[in-house]
Amino acid sequence: MNASTPSPAQNQASTTTLYGGVTNRRVTVRDLAAAKQRGEKWSMLTAYDALTAGVFDEAGIPVLLVGDSAGNCHLGYETTVPVTMDQMVMLSAAVVRGTKRSMIVADLPFGSYQESPAQAMHNAARLMKEAGVGAVKLEGGERSARSIELLVEAGVPVMAHIGLTPQSVHALGGYPVQGRGDEAAHQLLRDAKAVQQAGAFAVVLEAVPAELAAQVTEQLAIPTVGIGGGPDTDAQVLVWTDMAGMTAGRVPKFVKQYADLRTVLGDAARAYAEEVRTGAFPAAEHSFH
Ligand code: KIV
Repeated sequence: MNASTPSPAQNQASTTTLYGGVTNRRVTVRDLAAAKQRGEKWSMLTAYDALTAGVFDEAGIPVLLVGDSAGNCHLGYETTVPVTMDQMVMLSAAVVRGTKRSMIVADLPFGSYQESPAQAMHNAARLMKEAGVGAVKLEGGERSARSIELLVEAGVPVMAHIGLTPQSVHALGGYPVQGRGDEAAHQLLRDAKAVQQAGAFAVVLEAVPAELAAQVTEQLAIPTVGIGGGPDTDAQVLVWTDMAGMTAGRVPKFVKQYADLRTVLGDAARAYAEEVRTGAFPAAEHSFH
């Protein structure tokens, strides 16, 4: 078997559950297509470093997104806009190194694909060659269809992202819900169909009314991944720092917090500082003799 011949494991899309059936290789676009066929819902989380990504990989999250939300959730910026290709390559490579089974999707950041399909291809190739990701994500429906088409033709799996597109925060004047009203709803449907037609293997629907997300999901053959899109999309994605309670202050309405890591970590740091102050740490068992 040469390098281009799929192994028997790669050749067989999982037929049981998406993650339970995929034990010795990474999840692929074929597995996700098969999951839609059998109506299995799946989860995606963001990840920005090897350690956290490894935890999610072991927990059975089938798809990890190295989102440009790294800008506000990891790198200390206010928005995703300042994130660079070099930063995305570095973070994505770490996530790939920290995982064995999850499919790793990396965002093309603002300014790295909007100029032309050729620019999109150049930067998608960087993420695949230098970081080793299995797919890229970019924002935009009809406006990004030509770039998606070129990437897919070149062998790059593309996840599209429509509805609220955070890279357009300044043009949108914030993060408003999208697709409200007849014209906006029709545009969202056109965008969804355009990215499917262009060859995207999945599409993120961010901050759109649940009824509209359900309609898009029903009309598309590719999986829809909701974030603030209600319960009827094929998959869900959350930013991990929101999901685990690391984010300071208010989180969006669509977030459910499954842990309170900010309190746990803060308490641990305070206990450590106090023990250093009182001399309780390090004790004899932490010392060499
Ligand atoms: O960058 C990101 O984390 C995203 C998700 C919100 C889908 O695009």
